[in-house]
Amino acid sequence: MTHAPDMRAAFDAADADRYDLHARHLNHQMVRVLKTIGFDARFTRGKGAYLWDARGARYLDLVSGWGVFAIGRNHPHIAAALKSVLDADLPNLVQMDVSPLAGALAERLLKRAPWLDKAFFANSGAEAVEASIKFARAATGRAGIVYCEHSFHGLTYGALSAVGERLYRDGFGPALPDFHEVPFDDLAALERALRRRDVAGFLVEPIQGKVVRPPSPGYLREAQALCRKYGTLLIADEIQCGLGRTGKFFAVEHFAVEPDLVLLAKGLSGGHVPVGVVLMRRDVFGKVFDRMDKAVVHGSTFAKNDLAMAAGLATLDVIEHEKLIENAAAKGERLLAFLRRLAGTHDFVREARGMGLLLALELGEPKSLKLRAFWTMLETMSKGLTCQLVTIPLFKDHGILVQVAGHGSRAIKLLPTLTLTDEDCEWLERGFTDTLAAAGESAGPVWNLGKTLLEGARAASG
Ligand SMILES: Cc1ncc(COP(=O)(O)O)c(C=O)c1O
Repeated sequence: MTHAPDMRAAFDAADADRYDLHARHLNHQMVRVLKTIGFDARFTRGKGAYLWDARGARYLDLVSGWGVFAIGRNHPHIAAALKSVLDADLPNLVQMDVSPLAGALAERLLKRAPWLDKAFFANSGAEAVEASIKFARAATGRAGIVYCEHSFHGLTYGALSAVGERLYRDGFGPALPDFHEVPFDDLAALERALRRRDVAGFLVEPIQGKVVRPPSPGYLREAQALCRKYGTLLIADEIQCGLGRTGKFFAVEHFAVEPDLVLLAKGLSGGHVPVGVVLMRRDVFGKVFDRMDKAVVHGSTFAKNDLAMAAGLATLDVIEHEKLIENAAAKGERLLAFLRRLAGTHDFVREARGMGLLLALELGEPKSLKLRAFWTMLETMSKGLTCQLVTIPLFKDHGILVQVAGHGSRAIKLLPTLTLTDEDCEWLERGFTDTLAAAGESAGPVWNLGKTLLEGARAASG
């Protein structure tokens, strides 16, 4: 090798062709989406809660890589931790030994869940979900998995079989057998599903991430009681809502619930090295790893690799040192109050909801006749298109990157870094206030944009 690799130079060299390369070799539909809504901004840099585009304009990132950048992008503490691993020539992934860094990370995570004793590491959220399904089945000797409507748990087959949105499942069937859907927040339906005592695990997001739906106050506690009554393990998928996002380390802490298994991933990576984990009770773990000849009965080659473990340890340092959980609680409270004020001001905003820094603003049919005509036209064309009338001006006019909560959803979702400052909140509040005020004018630019989008969509489908 004659020269040191320079990935900034490699990035720059491919930058001019980035959309063409993707259209040709990767996901061409994603390129179409970005170009249609004008999000093809060519981001060139990321730091903390911000992104910069090719023109040097700064954006406030309220998507945070789908929650991966809980501690912000390119945090220097994570970079230092990862560089120190590379510099130390550690005996990574020996496989016929055990990893000290994995032991240290497991101990730190389990200190946060004193009712649990064991950790199982994976390489992603979906892999953690897969593991939890296997653990639940092995521990109970039952096949059933109960999951909720509108849930999201990942896109591998086991996880997908527990996803409550048709878009992700259609065309990929059959799903795994013995998976049963129940409405979220419905205890009677849950009891009906558990009563036959053939359900291994109830897999639930304490706060549903895709649609941003917190449960009623007593739901999870009662669900836990039902699980105990019928011998079902309670599996809390905290992959999106955990790690401080809701203002507590685990979202279940808000509801005084102690699940038998708790899953984390996303933000634990520090935004750099994928990692997932299942925290669980000793007896559940022991049912899978119950004999010496089964010491490797479940696992994955790259799980527990030193870079992932270092990213996890450094992420916990940052969360604690920068008091990000407290910050998520405070900024979440401020922003939820702000979004509720918007809901009270605009007749096309139905409600604001969420906890901590997992928030949503749901639009609804306007009462004003003129706006309602536009609304109906857009919604008939494509359900959820009206949300883009808010996300596009937020992006173009205010430099705020935000997403629609899901396919066909009418909710705009806020999943920012946990590092938001008061100035960031003001930026966000200004952007939303102006954009929604403009959307309230039936002759204004927002609805013209709607017409343009409609024409574009018609042309594309014609
Ligand atoms: C609640 C929840 N569970 C599981 C997953 C899957 O994680 P991954 O994309 O890392 O496989 C996600 C991803 O969005 C999620 O939000």
